[in-house]
Amino acid sequence: MLRTAAWRPPRLVTALCLLTFVLVGCSPEHYPQTTLLPRGDFARIADDLLDTTVRWALLVFVLVEGVLIYAIFRFRGKPGDPEPHQTHGNTTVEIIWTVIPALILAAIAVPTVRAIFQTNATPAKDALTIEVVGHQWWWEFRYPEYNLTTANELHVPVGRTVSLRMGSADVIHSFWVPQFAAKRDVFANRETRMWFKAEVEGDYPAQCAEFCGIQHARMAYRIRAQKPEEFRAWVAHMQTLGPKPPPGTPPAPKPTATRATAGEVKTATAGATLQQPGPPAGPQNPQYATGEQLFMTKGCVGCHSLQAVNAPKGMVGPNLANVGARSYIAAGTLKNTDENLARWIRNPQEIKKGVLMPNLGVSETEAQALVAYLRAHQ
Ligand code: CUA
Repeated sequence: MLRTAAWRPPRLVTALCLLTFVLVGCSPEHYPQTTLLPRGDFARIADDLLDTTVRWALLVFVLVEGVLIYAIFRFRGKPGDPEPHQTHGNTTVEIIWTVIPALILAAIAVPTVRAIFQTNATPAKDALTIEVVGHQWWWEFRYPEYNLTTANELHVPVGRTVSLRMGSADVIHSFWVPQFAAKRDVFANRETRMWFKAEVEGDYPAQCAEFCGIQHARMAYRIRAQKPEEFRAWVAHMQTLGPKPPPGTPPAPKPTATRATAGEVKTATAGATLQQPGPPAGPQNPQYATGEQLFMTKGCVGCHSLQAVNAPKGMVGPNLANVGARSYIAAGTLKNTDENLARWIRNPQEIKKGVLMPNLGVSETEAQALVAYLRAHQ
């Protein structure tokens, strides 16, 4: 008995030290995909509610445990004590322990119901409408106001509410941007809605949150919350990525030629980790023409559109109009480097087994040409 008592304190100290280390590692700053650092109004409503509930729970815990520990020591039995006085029922005590929890539940229920109504309210009329379509396994984003389509990287302006109208092209997915908004499932035959206003600019990871097939985990996306003027510049740039003039028309100055510099400036300010090494990323690259031809003949064009403006609906694969400027490819699976892009083009089934993109028998050289072509699409 004495020996165990002597050993206990060091063990407790060790456990407390370990716990401290573990908790220090849990800082939400290290985990950007956290709901505990809200960066928008919607997320803050949910976070405030969580804080309220936790505060009440802490209060109850401290009071109950405090009374319990006090009673254990204060009324501890000693040898020779008489039998304790027996009681059966106490109306006053029973009323107190019924009324107090009821009041605490009410204190939690009122803000909860208010938050439910707030987060389900119709957004203001000047909100920016964005259509979201979940696909196995990537996200399509359409901006009807600007007639633009993009994939896997959602650009939103800071300070303006975005109103999301969401659906699915196949199975049920769930749209979840932890630092901005809640989860909302998306369905093939029903529109779900959500809104949020980004308040802090930055690049935020997001994730499909409903199991939707073997590559559910690789259905990630990013939210680029940009200053209003940066967002406007992005929109203006994307609007240059329209349909090509029909063959035979005199060659207009290709937007891709100026695109490279514009893209670099834009992504640098947004803090992207995009790599732009090697030969020029534009039509002046000798591999560009070969890549363009391969894109048409290898079947890529059947599933991917290269137009941001007037993009056809119902494409099987992600829109690639600005693929060269995105920070990730294959829905958050790989960093968008030339090397990874070539690997992906050659063997998507090895990287993301079950993905709808088949291995197309692309050689190493052909992959290089396709990379040069796609990299120019920024
Ligand atoms: Cu889509 Cu999980």
